[in-house]
Amino acid sequence: MSTFTIDTATSRATPTPVPGKRMTAPSLRARKVDGKTEQPIVALTAYTMRMAQLLDEHCDLLLVGDSLGQVIYGLPSTIPVTLDMMIAHGAAVVRGSWHALVAVDMPFGSYEGSPEQAFANCSRVMKETGCAAIKLEGGEAMAPTIRFLTERGIPVIGHVGLTPQAVNALGGYGARGKNQADAKKIERDASAVATAGAFSIVVEGVLEDLATRITRNVEPPVIGIGASAECDGQILVTDDMLGVFERTPRFVKRYDNLAEQISIAAKTYADEVRARAFPSADQTYRPKGS
Ligand code: KIV
Repeated sequence: MSTFTIDTATSRATPTPVPGKRMTAPSLRARKVDGKTEQPIVALTAYTMRMAQLLDEHCDLLLVGDSLGQVIYGLPSTIPVTLDMMIAHGAAVVRGSWHALVAVDMPFGSYEGSPEQAFANCSRVMKETGCAAIKLEGGEAMAPTIRFLTERGIPVIGHVGLTPQAVNALGGYGARGKNQADAKKIERDASAVATAGAFSIVVEGVLEDLATRITRNVEPPVIGIGASAECDGQILVTDDMLGVFERTPRFVKRYDNLAEQISIAAKTYADEVRARAFPSADQTYRPKGS
């Protein structure tokens, strides 16, 4: 684990050793050569400064996902997430990272209206957070917008398959691509997003063989979530993989059980407060020598 030096004037922590260079959109894009990715892209979501610090050294990409709507704010879906929320959390994650490329999700309603609307909001996100890429959901319908953005200096990650902002149109969060027409549509979406200039594409919640086929057929690296081990990289919602929630989607592997650990720590604290065992001499200020 990195150690951090704290600048007491600014409270900014700097890792030791300081990582050389931050990942960029071109460096991630360049991981896939002639349809093959030797080193899979490691990506996780991050919403806060401290979590970004802890994840940064292990990840190529930190995504400030609009999943923060459910994870941080307890909202029922990503639909109510605002641009201001994404900007506040995006700036915190940029401040807490040195190595990973930080990408910020564009929230529902902030980019679908027109390429001009998307450019105005994406450029605001980049100016106010310092992130170096954005992600937006949608396939063929979003291709002209992706082209407009990429031609104007905004690196874009596409997102096809299960697109949570379309939950009301899709009727739920079930896996997609189960019938031939749906699978073909998702393949067309991925190909349109790739042709429009996305430097990477998230493929979420689709049958494994469809995800594998898309990965083989599009040029930019495909980052899977609920997709296939054959993808060029993987992403998970960090709180899911840390076991913060009781329930997680089937495709999540829990690498820890933080919910249980937090509950045990909170119970121990509560017991000690009630027994007047906390604070002890170690945590109280006393006159010198007493
Ligand atoms: O919002 C999010 O966290 C995402 C990932 C799950 C890909 O879009």
